[in-house]
Amino acid sequence: MNSNQTNEYQSSAQETAQFLLDKMGEKPEELLIIGSGLGQLVELLEDRKMLRYADIPHFPVSTVVGHSGELHCGRINGYPLCIMKGRFHLYEGYHPRQVVFPIVAAHACGIKKLLITNAAGGINPGFEVGDIMLIRDHINWMFKNPLIGSDNPLSSYRFPDMSDCYSRKLARQIRDIALQEGIMLREGTYLASTGPNYETMSEIAMMRSMGADAVGMSTVPEVLAASALQLEVLGFSYISNVHRLGADYDTTHEEVIRNARLATKNLLSLFQKRYV
Ligand code: HPA
Repeated sequence: MNSNQTNEYQSSAQETAQFLLDKMGEKPEELLIIGSGLGQLVELLEDRKMLRYADIPHFPVSTVVGHSGELHCGRINGYPLCIMKGRFHLYEGYHPRQVVFPIVAAHACGIKKLLITNAAGGINPGFEVGDIMLIRDHINWMFKNPLIGSDNPLSSYRFPDMSDCYSRKLARQIRDIALQEGIMLREGTYLASTGPNYETMSEIAMMRSMGADAVGMSTVPEVLAASALQLEVLGFSYISNVHRLGADYDTTHEEVIRNARLATKNLLSLFQKRYV
C-alpha cells in the first residue's frame, strides 16, 4: 500500500463507521466475531438489525460455506453491541489489512472491546470435541501480520505490547461466570496457521511441542489489529475436532461445522451472563 492507499483505507473505515452508526442509531460498545457454526448467537440480540456485508460500504465479502456474511446489531440486557456472522480469512486470498478492516471500522464506531470466537482443532491431548477453551495467548504461525508496512494505517501503534493482548481482567470475569453456571472452561494457547489445509501429523507433533493447545485459521490477525488499537480482547476456541497423534482419522470441514454446534449452548450462556 502506498500513502494514497493508506489514506483511502482510513477514510474507507471512517465512511463504513459513519454508515453503521447511521443504521444502528447508537454507538456499540463491543464487537463480537463468531466462528463457523455459531450463527445462533445472533438470536441473543434484542431490537436486532441485520446488514449484509455486501450492503456495507467497503466491507469485504465472505466466501466460505457456513460463514454467511451478516452484521447483526442490537442489545443484550440494554448493552449495545454488534455481532459479525462470518469473517475474512487469509486463506480466501485477502490481504491481512482487509481481514482486519471490520475491526478498524468498529474501532472508528467507538467500540472498546473485541470478543472473538473460532472453531479449532484440539492439540492438547486432554481436550474433547465440544470443549470451550478460553484463549489465554496465541502463537502467530501465519507469518503474516496486518501491522506490517511503513505506510500502514495502524502504524502509529507500531510496537503493541502483547503481554495482555487477551485481557486478564475479562478472562477473570468469564471464569467467574463459568463457575457460577457450571460450565467447564479449558484454557490455553491458540496457534493460527493460514490453512486452508488441516495439519499433518508432523505439524501436530510440532505444535504440541511448541505449547499450542488448539489450532485454527483465524483470530490472530484480528487480535493483532485490536492490540494496536488498544481494544480489550476476550477470545474463545470451541473444539470441533481433536488431533490424536498416531490415530487413524480424517478431519473434514463438515465435521468441524457440525461439532462446532455442540459448544453453542454453553457459549450462549457465557455471553448472555456477561451483560447481567
Ligand atoms: N485445524 C485448523 N483449523 C481448524 C481445525 C483444525 O483442526 N478445526 C477447526 N478449525
